[in-house]
Amino acid sequence: MCGIIGVVQKRGVVAPFLHQALKRLEYRGYDSVGVTTISDNKLYVKKDQGKIDEVHRRLNLDEMPGSMGIGHTRWATHGPPSMLNSHPHFDCHNEIAVVHNGVIDNFMELRLELSKKGHKLNSETDTEVIPHMLEDYMKEGLSLAEALKEVSKRIEGTYAIVAMSTKDNGKIVCTRDGNPLVIGTKSGVSYVSSDIPAFLPMTNDMILLLDGEIASLTTDEIRIEKLSDGSSVERDTIKISWTADQAQKSGYPHFMLKEIHEQPEAIRNTLRLRPETIKEAAEIIKSSERVYIIAMGTSGHAAIAGRHMFASLAGILPSFELASDFSDTVYDALSDKDCIIAITQSGETTDTISAVKFAKEFSTKIVAITNVVGSSITRLADHTVITQAGPEIGVAATKTFMVQLTSLALIALALSELTGFKDTATIQGKLESLQKMPELVSNVISRNEEKARRLASLFYDKPSLLFLGRGISMATAEEGALKLKEIAYNHAEAYSAGESKHGPIALVQDGYPVIFVAPNDDTRKRIIGNIMEMKARGATIISVIQKNDNDMSSIADHTFTIPSDVEPEFSIMPYVVPLQLFSYYMALRKGYDPDKPRNLAKSVTVL
Ligand code: G6P
Repeated sequence: MCGIIGVVQKRGVVAPFLHQALKRLEYRGYDSVGVTTISDNKLYVKKDQGKIDEVHRRLNLDEMPGSMGIGHTRWATHGPPSMLNSHPHFDCHNEIAVVHNGVIDNFMELRLELSKKGHKLNSETDTEVIPHMLEDYMKEGLSLAEALKEVSKRIEGTYAIVAMSTKDNGKIVCTRDGNPLVIGTKSGVSYVSSDIPAFLPMTNDMILLLDGEIASLTTDEIRIEKLSDGSSVERDTIKISWTADQAQKSGYPHFMLKEIHEQPEAIRNTLRLRPETIKEAAEIIKSSERVYIIAMGTSGHAAIAGRHMFASLAGILPSFELASDFSDTVYDALSDKDCIIAITQSGETTDTISAVKFAKEFSTKIVAITNVVGSSITRLADHTVITQAGPEIGVAATKTFMVQLTSLALIALALSELTGFKDTATIQGKLESLQKMPELVSNVISRNEEKARRLASLFYDKPSLLFLGRGISMATAEEGALKLKEIAYNHAEAYSAGESKHGPIALVQDGYPVIFVAPNDDTRKRIIGNIMEMKARGATIISVIQKNDNDMSSIADHTFTIPSDVEPEFSIMPYVVPLQLFSYYMALRKGYDPDKPRNLAKSVTVL
């Protein structure tokens, strides 16, 4: 949550870059935006409530002098969206500017202390204490970096902080504890950001900053020190394989639609993961006593699907737990003989990171599945699988979900080989069908996109929809309902089709839309029974079914079709796609921006 960018360059005006970088960070929050630059030893600021385009129309974010600056796009925690609460925040003399992501837990006592000393704080944010504390330390003669070191000793919570000052010109200083910051480097320019895509058009060279470190960036040098003892840190540059083009809309009206269309390629690239990487994950799982899969949001649905894959293919049934509730559910029932599979596309979700840290106290092994190289989870995990979706910009996850499923399928097959639960020929057959998945998903998109648009115009004004499935299709239904809630704001609920008659059926009356995920697997016959129950109460049935499933299509009012047979363990991959498209067109039909759903952010870095 909250996007951060900072840049210091030798010459040229930096404001248009800051503006574009913030656009690339908008998925982190979009209730307000602000930019500060330094020119002729003076701070210039433009900030306000609203999405970046709106604020730019009012203030023209491109017209600011100076070749260094910092910017912020906000997802409000402390204080509602407003001009005063927007970042950057300043000291009493407008000499120090700070942007921050995270939460300062002890901000109230710090505020009180500062007010008593005569500081005038203008906002309701926790962030504003930082520039005022920096002001006091700098008054004592400390440099900006030294002052930030002192501040970091006093603040409690999780944070990524970027600061600059006219009193220590030509330098950007940053530190982190619990929230992401990455440094980008290029000859004569240094960048710092919460996310790689912010500087991707300028450089693919990145340096990680870790928790408890502080970095000083100038045009020629990046210095990193440990906060604990001031020792300097030498860290290699990493080359990121993502391309700037992947973070552009490339002719699509929205990132979400582009990313749905990129799914075949994302699966293809993930299928090329080194077999040793997959095998090592499988070996850790195989050698563990208890196996938990933990995740949040869409990644949680991949986890539920993964659980089915592991059970069906390898005879291992992990427990799925929401990462946010993990420690409250398992208590001390963990040991060094257990393992956790943590799934998080961003690698930064605080709920997931906290659960992993909790498990590490018991020396439990951690296998991480993430899409972001160098993200926080990769540094906590014993073994990491990096999925190959490329940058995902749409807040609602689509292609990162697909690659999580792909990697889980690969691990399940490797695990099957290790446990001997399925014979070699069966495993080989399943692997071959997985290899055909990119083509299948591509066909599913082309055959269902127009249908999704049409059905959206029939159902967009329905206040509530039910999504039902059985077995692994329960995860498909969950993801379909979540997508619809997230971006089109229709109330949508997913239920096991079996459970639906124990309560949810009471909601059903004439014309109530019920969406069934009904692949041609062992659940099909029972699903037919559930469809009939819903029909008998007047429900309008929309089914996602295999092409030529005449029984199913005869009892549905509308169908999305999957062109060919699919291995039951992998059905979620093609079957979820029409539901992604349906949500996208529902949002569009209602006039909402699917890339920026209200109140949400792509990476949730608060508990
Ligand atoms: C947020 C996003 C969701 C995402 C979830 C977990 O809520 O809006 O799209 O699924 O976080 O994110 P992660 O990065 O851990 O997969």
